[in-house]
Amino acid sequence: MKKLAVTLFAALTLAGVSFNANAQASTADIPADMNALMSKYTCIACHRPNQRLVGPAYADVAKKKYSNAEIVNLIYNPIPTHWPDYPPMAAMKQVPKDDAMKLAVWINSLDDSPKKGTTKKKTTTRKRS
Ligand code: HEC
Repeated sequence: MKKLAVTLFAALTLAGVSFNANAQASTADIPADMNALMSKYTCIACHRPNQRLVGPAYADVAKKKYSNAEIVNLIYNPIPTHWPDYPPMAAMKQVPKDDAMKLAVWINSLDDSPKKGTTKKKTTTRKRS
């Protein structure tokens, strides 16, 4: 079973690479299930989690703090003025809503900026000398 998963992952990674306009953009930081969706709907040709490609890095999309539903809408109806120095993205209406939602949830999970209301209880006291 494990071997199957590894083989599957390798196959998907290869598929991603052959789709890739820029061979230097690694797909290593894309989880296998998201890699599958991104390959199926060709997002992978233009997007990476942490790297600008044809389109913005998903981590930068996440920083815009859209709701998941807003991201789904933007996949169906892109608003190119959100990204002035990029070419306009084509509307991707062929993506089923549940898959678009999975991608949206993942995209939003890539925001590493501090979230409101998650102050850690354990505060490290810095000693100043
Ligand atoms: C042919 C290249 C291309 C493909 C394929 C593509 N995108 Fe994009 N994407 C872009 C570009 C360029 C932008 C920035 C300009 C824009 O929003 O129109 C963008 C922007 C976005 C944004 C930000 C929207 C905003 O307004 O902030 C999201 C989210 C996104 N893409 C998701 C996806 C998903 C999910 C897929 C696959 C279903 C996908 N993209 C496929 C090129 C692409």
